[in-house]
Amino acid sequence: MENKDQLHPCMIVIFGASGDLTKRKLIPALFDLYTRKQMPEHFAVVGVSRTEFSDDDFRQKLFDFKPDNYSDSASWNAFAKHIHYHAADSTKIGDYAQMKQRFKALADEHQTGENALYYLSMAPQFFEPTINNISAAEMVTEGKRYCSLDRKQKPWQRIVVEKPFGSDPKSATHLNSVLANVFEETEIYRIDHYLGKELVQNLMVLRFANAIFEPIWNQSYIDHVQITASETVGVESRGAYYDGPTGGAMRDMVQSHLLQVLSVMAMEPPVSLKAEDIRTEKIKIFKAMRVPKYDDVPNIAVRGQYGDGQLAGKVIKAYRDTEGVDPESQCDTYAAMKMYVDTWRWGGVPFYLRSGKAMAKKITNIVLYFKPTPHILFRDMAKQRKANQIVINVQPDEGIRIRFEGKVPGHRLAVKDVELDFDYVKQWNAQPPDGYSTLLYDVMLGDQTLFKHRDEIECAWHAVQPVLDYWNDNPQFDLPNYAAGTWGPSAADILMAQSNRYWHNPK
Ligand SMILES: NC(=O)c1ccc[n+]([C@@H]2O[C@H](COP(=O)([O-])OP(=O)(O)OC[C@H]3O[C@@H](n4cnc5c(N)ncnc54)[C@H](OP(=O)(O)O)[C@@H]3O)[C@@H](O)[C@H]2O)c1
Repeated sequence: MENKDQLHPCMIVIFGASGDLTKRKLIPALFDLYTRKQMPEHFAVVGVSRTEFSDDDFRQKLFDFKPDNYSDSASWNAFAKHIHYHAADSTKIGDYAQMKQRFKALADEHQTGENALYYLSMAPQFFEPTINNISAAEMVTEGKRYCSLDRKQKPWQRIVVEKPFGSDPKSATHLNSVLANVFEETEIYRIDHYLGKELVQNLMVLRFANAIFEPIWNQSYIDHVQITASETVGVESRGAYYDGPTGGAMRDMVQSHLLQVLSVMAMEPPVSLKAEDIRTEKIKIFKAMRVPKYDDVPNIAVRGQYGDGQLAGKVIKAYRDTEGVDPESQCDTYAAMKMYVDTWRWGGVPFYLRSGKAMAKKITNIVLYFKPTPHILFRDMAKQRKANQIVINVQPDEGIRIRFEGKVPGHRLAVKDVELDFDYVKQWNAQPPDGYSTLLYDVMLGDQTLFKHRDEIECAWHAVQPVLDYWNDNPQFDLPNYAAGTWGPSAADILMAQSNRYWHNPK
């Protein structure tokens, strides 16, 4: 992280502040930065949503949600003085005159000047009217900086946009245009909390700070790559949202988070660590993602939905029996997809992506499977031999494991797979910070490295849209097709078995 002195005074305006994300992630992340002394000297946080709260009631509501996190009461009380609340409907332009007045008074009180970070923490249908109203109310002046000789001295306004960013290529492109009408691309932060995770950034260090991995990180040595994000919980209380137009594992997880992880894993070394240089390399990977042919979808993608099941003695009821879910829902609570990145480095290497709810284990990882040695000396033992693997655990148990063959002690020549293990927590004796604090810190610094460029979003939608279209046109009659608490539908195992491969399912 860079020097705190580079943080400018600013006001953080959270639209949708009475919601779940604010209390669960945003405020704890800002408090975490505050206690690490990584907030600007002058800052204010202003929550905006329609429900009426006084400043004190709002602070209490935030505190009550995570009292353990705020057990350092002196720090919390000092931090809470920076938090305010203003009741307004961000989709109504008539509410903005008072809102601006309040912001001005708070800016004076906290000496934050005109720098503002607008965070859209609300349902996606409110993004467009809110962005347009921010513009109509003249709450963005940053574009004027570009007429200035010394831009750095001018105030900035930045916007953070939560997921889901569109529900298909058309809606994502439209939202990008709405944003571009109001903000410069350099001030737009499309958030993906996966990119804030320590191990995703560590992946860049692993690849580009070491000489031993990069020479083998290509189609000459790698047989295939698996990227998994599995959860043990079902949809719980989010049935109505998940069963809607932006829900489902392919839209909610594969299109967004998993393709982002893939791009960091697969990109070429950037010329520098500057945001634009890293994003240039990531965009090349997005542009090289092979868009599947509609007719080929049954051969490369698998949709699943969980039925009744159990995990660790706990009963999980079927997705279709969840409140808010259509009893005949076709929604994919599991999605797997085989895809290719058509570049010199990755030609012919399949990337298998999968994500599911109510699965056997909670894990996000990347597994690189290596090709066999060119000449097999230990032919007698060939059956037992396993492919070399690099396993990168993004969460939980952050770490990197390398699996290779070793000799079993003794007079006989026996070979068995062994592991070299780097465990993040043991090594550094520290828990990785929450992704949101890393990302909020970067927005305040003006560092876009860990945020998505508009091209990445649009290419990602194009890469999955034929699958979504095919699934929409062809209802599947065997749903639910996996029991909660398992590793997903058998069709996903068949997808792998067709190429003599198998999923990496950790115990
Ligand atoms: N929750 C999570 O863990 C999570 C994770 C990743 C991404 N996200 C994304 O983050 C965003 C927020 O999620 P959330 O779970 O916090 O949603 P939420 O619980 O539905 O909260 C959004 C808030 O927006 C407010 N709101 C609605 N219409 C408004 C309007 N016209 N003007 C001002 N405020 C309005 C509502 O409060 P009032 O009724 O008081 O106005 C509501 O409390 C969504 O885009 C979501 O997809 C959430």
